[in-house]
Amino acid sequence: MNKLNGKTVLITGGSSGIGLATAKLFSAEGARLAITGRDPERLAAAKEQLGGDTLTIASEAGCLNDIETLLSQVKQHFETLDVLFLNAGVAEPTPLEMATEEQFDHIMRVNFKGVFFTIQKALPMLNPNASIIVTTSITNRSGTPNFSIYAASKAALRSLVQSLALTLIGRGIRVNAINPGPIDTEGFNRLPLPGEVFQAIKDDIEARSPIKRFGAPDEVAKVALFLASDDSAYVVGEEIVVDGGMTLVCLP
Ligand SMILES: NC(=O)c1ccc[n+]([C@@H]2O[C@H](COP(=O)([O-])OP(=O)(O)OC[C@H]3O[C@@H](n4cnc5c(N)ncnc54)[C@H](OP(=O)(O)O)[C@@H]3O)[C@@H](O)[C@H]2O)c1
Repeated sequence: MNKLNGKTVLITGGSSGIGLATAKLFSAEGARLAITGRDPERLAAAKEQLGGDTLTIASEAGCLNDIETLLSQVKQHFETLDVLFLNAGVAEPTPLEMATEEQFDHIMRVNFKGVFFTIQKALPMLNPNASIIVTTSITNRSGTPNFSIYAASKAALRSLVQSLALTLIGRGIRVNAINPGPIDTEGFNRLPLPGEVFQAIKDDIEARSPIKRFGAPDEVAKVALFLASDDSAYVVGEEIVVDGGMTLVCLP
């Protein structure tokens, strides 16, 4: 199994959840990896799991200075990139009457603005036939009242993926998205909600899900591998839903 043999990969938000599961799978498939996160302890723990060759860089996904520093470090290490997986994201509840401008700006900066500028600034180091993958969310199709800013940031990403797919396919670079439903990650389990509210949300999701369970991070990682590898050579500007059928019952 060497679908990514020798390929160079940068995964933002690679220290936990979907990003870490993807990093493990890509590494097993022969990739050379750089991952980012913010929390130094989580980054160190990820490095231990992934092996000493993995480049781990603390970098704020919504900060343009950090993005430039990150990419210059990756360039120094790898020279060029074959796969750019833009997965770092922030999810927090923002009920309409309580949301602040600070929350709005933070969510949009990390989930949308950071992705746009990481792609822009990584462009000179992307190899021909590179694959760019962006993590969106099924909330970008279904309407999510208490997470409206998050959902809108992920809807903006869906549009961005389509536009940039057309912009970049002439250079041989494919841009696609993974659209996860409820996935049992550290991030999901850290959502800032009171315990009983959080449990009620989990129970409700499981009850409504056609597959009756949360997804596992490695079930998303396998789709990321498909999009990263030549197996998806003819897939351009797509958003692949990985949700156990959730959008089938969520959509009006
Ligand atoms: N889990 C779900 O149900 C679900 C559903 C749909 C979409 N998603 C999307 O999937 C992606 C991964 O989420 P996850 O559930 O795997 O979460 P997770 O377990 O919390 O992992 C998130 C990763 O992103 C990093 N990160 C978060 N904010 C960052 C920032 N501002 N700058 C740099 N790195 C940052 C985290 O690093 P630190 O821990 O150091 O901050 C961590 O490595 C996100 O884009 C999320 O919106 C998740």
